[in-house]
Amino acid sequence: MDDTRQSVHGQWSGRWAFVFAATGSAVGLGNIWKFPYITGENGGGAFVLIYLACIAVIGIPIMMAEILLGRRGRGTPINTMRRLLREAGAHKAWQVVGWMGMLAGFLILSYYSVIAGWALAYVLRMGSGEFVDATPERVGELFAGLLASPGQLLFWHSLFMLMTMLVVARGVEQGLEKAVRFLMPALFVLLLIMVGYAMSMGAFSQAVDFLFSPDFSKITGTGVLIAMGHAFFTLSLGMGAIMIYGAYLPRHTSITQTSIMIAGADTLVALLAGLAIFPIVFANGLEPGAGPGLIFETLPIAFGHMPGGSLFGFLFFLLLVFAAWSSAISLIEPAVTWLVENRNMSRVRACVWAGLATWLLGIGTVLSFNYWSEIKLFGKTFFDLLDFLTANIMLPLGGLLIAIFVAWLLPRLSSQEELAMRSELAYHVWHGLVRYVTPLAVIIVFLNAIGVIG
Ligand code: PHE
Repeated sequence: MDDTRQSVHGQWSGRWAFVFAATGSAVGLGNIWKFPYITGENGGGAFVLIYLACIAVIGIPIMMAEILLGRRGRGTPINTMRRLLREAGAHKAWQVVGWMGMLAGFLILSYYSVIAGWALAYVLRMGSGEFVDATPERVGELFAGLLASPGQLLFWHSLFMLMTMLVVARGVEQGLEKAVRFLMPALFVLLLIMVGYAMSMGAFSQAVDFLFSPDFSKITGTGVLIAMGHAFFTLSLGMGAIMIYGAYLPRHTSITQTSIMIAGADTLVALLAGLAIFPIVFANGLEPGAGPGLIFETLPIAFGHMPGGSLFGFLFFLLLVFAAWSSAISLIEPAVTWLVENRNMSRVRACVWAGLATWLLGIGTVLSFNYWSEIKLFGKTFFDLLDFLTANIMLPLGGLLIAIFVAWLLPRLSSQEELAMRSELAYHVWHGLVRYVTPLAVIIVFLNAIGVIG
């Protein structure tokens, strides 16, 4: 019955195109920049274990739910929800899933772009050989210098926003699809080389221990919330990015298989990043909980000392920029397509407006690392607050609503038809997870973090 429903924005050329685009969205700064630093801040092993559990029992089932909603609704998250709430006989208020997602994407991109700007700056720094033989202190100083300069931060943030909006203006399925196809594997290979190098550094077993032997006394209620929030963030869930990519998905592609592949690749990249970074941290007596600067203060030390390090470092940060780029595009895609579908704007015009608004808000993050670094609300800077609000609150809340909608309101027949699973049992497992486990887990983690229980 839905065979006639088509996205006005085109369709992926096939299953692999979708897998690569969704992996491009999932794999980004979240894996290489954020995962190591929040793992370091939250004590290591126990945090990693909770994060992995969240990927398996919340992330993958929600990813399947989002893709199936997207493919059935074939529109922007807001329009998809509007169509499907009719199918489900649900209240209009459910559109809020689409609205909140669009807002979350916009808020996230505003700071994501600033961090991607750091990576851009490091492409240049690596290429110019600035880190050759640099001591850990020198590497730390160079990073602090970047943060202290609003002009530099603003320049790189502006450049990254421009790059993002240029691709979005052309439409996601052109260009991006081809680029991601070989850049992702390249990033993967480079990470493997880094892990290989890290193994020779002496502190490798200490790093493995830190990452994989859980010590639950080190984890707090907020730590669990951050682990769960990160499962959503790293898989691009809870805000409609994966839903909108699902809208371009061909009819007969298996949603289950593709979801498992995407989540698997994403998790592997994060773990490899951890294995590449923590040996450097321990071998140089650095602080695992150093915060958002962690990769920028550790990796250059390794690149500065390994043979061919400037070239490897240059390539590494370049690939990191590409990974961030393909994620950034999916963050703003829901807002842009919404403007096109509902405000009758041309794609280019929609990009200009969405891009400008995001760029402006990003200035708040730029300043939070220098002029505004002492201005705090709930003990958090502007950047910290935005990150906490989006990743740890808005995305899990979006995921909670999606789970309730799919498993309690949408007719079973609809989800059965979309998932088209061969095994009854597999469908029941998925349905049970989305119906009970995900909503309960999210609610318990929320209550635990605010201290109501636990
Ligand atoms: N998943 C991306 C990353 O890990 C970030 C992202 C979040 C992208 C939400 C889209 C939507 O870097």
